[in-house]
Amino acid sequence: MTTPTGTIKLHHYGIDQFDQIRPTLVSLYAEVYTADIEKDPFFSVERFTERLTGHASRPSWEAVVAYDGAQAAGYAYASCLPEKTGWWAHMLTPLAEEEIRETGERTLALFELMVRRPWRGTGLAQRIHEELLAGRSQERVTLLVDPEHPRVKALYESWGYRDIGGQQPFPDAPTYATMVRPLR
Ligand SMILES: CC(C)(COP(=O)(O)OP(=O)(O)OC[C@H]1O[C@@H](n2cnc3c(N)ncnc32)[C@H](O)[C@@H]1OP(=O)(O)O)[C@@H](O)C(=O)NCCC(=O)NCCS
Repeated sequence: MTTPTGTIKLHHYGIDQFDQIRPTLVSLYAEVYTADIEKDPFFSVERFTERLTGHASRPSWEAVVAYDGAQAAGYAYASCLPEKTGWWAHMLTPLAEEEIRETGERTLALFELMVRRPWRGTGLAQRIHEELLAGRSQERVTLLVDPEHPRVKALYESWGYRDIGGQQPFPDAPTYATMVRPLR
């Protein structure tokens, strides 16, 4: 059984190490999202893997994985939004042009953040998150969160994110809250 030891190491993976880290990212997803995978095809491991491949093809993809000894305990990954991004295309209420203009270097998109159950409530999620964002040159970071998980949304708000409106990125995806936080 997995028992936290209290000694965590954070490792960065760039796109050059994607093939090496991909099985870990998929296997933690399959564990953390077990309940969603059972009830909604959007959350299937296959669909996740497709999304992961798409995210990894965007500029500056990077993951931070937390290890407790040899065990991966959680991770986050992000990429920059390219100039021609579809990120803002599915807002329920369209945003002003200035808000959605991308350059490939303006906005970091945080696509996933997850921590395995034994390590929840230990501050590890925030450590992983801050490690991934540290030293970034982008102006802001954005993420999507399911508003039906208000505790998770509140957690992001406590980390400085604000909700700028709902969006449904795929026809069968939940309607997410779009959150943004300045990076500098
Ligand atoms: C989000 C996450 C990384 C935060 O980890 P953490 O900082 O250790 O915080 P906790 O796990 O204690 O979660 C904070 C609160 O959100 C709730 N929560 C976490 N994941 C949730 C989920 N998927 N659905 C509903 N509520 C959830 C917790 O019950 C907790 O509520 P509480 O404050 O009333 O106890 C971790 O909970 C996780 O991996 N969740 C599953 C994956 C996920 O939902 N990722 C976010 C996608 S936007």
